[in-house]
Amino acid sequence: MINDAVTGVSLIVNTDEKIVTIRPADTLLYVIRVRLGLTGVKPGCLNGDCGACTILADGVPMKSCLMLAVEAEGKEITTIEGLKDTPIQRAFIEKFAFQCGYCTSGFLMNCHGLVNEKPEADEAEIKDWLESNICRCTGYKEIREAVLSILRDE
Ligand code: FES
Ligand code: FES
Repeated sequence: MINDAVTGVSLIVNTDEKIVTIRPADTLLYVIRVRLGLTGVKPGCLNGDCGACTILADGVPMKSCLMLAVEAEGKEITTIEGLKDTPIQRAFIEKFAFQCGYCTSGFLMNCHGLVNEKPEADEAEIKDWLESNICRCTGYKEIREAVLSILRDE
């Protein structure tokens, strides 16, 4: 039997506290997009493969389609709306690291996490880290170059 009971949770999203009523099975992706209206977080595969839905939870990139909203209680959640004029955003523009842009918010969150977590990452580590995200239009080379340009302070 599906548990449809509604419960209230407190979520910290982009430094704001949001009190929201949810069902136990609601994913964080659903709550962020539909209940909080933050549509920069994109739905793609909905099963953890594409990375379009990536957010940061306490600074760590996570796929919000795989996370229940209740699991986000007590964590600092950051979405693309919470990143403003960061080095990685500027680097994506400078290196032309996107085309249609659908995957871009997920890549930006993942790359932001990477430059913060692994400032010493080499090209192989960057390639490995980015394997969690899929882009259907552009090459990955420009995205890797954007990350490298920050790590090497170019
Ligand atoms: S929508 Fe979450 S990984 Fe694809
Ligand atoms: S830029 Fe179009 S899917 Fe990545």
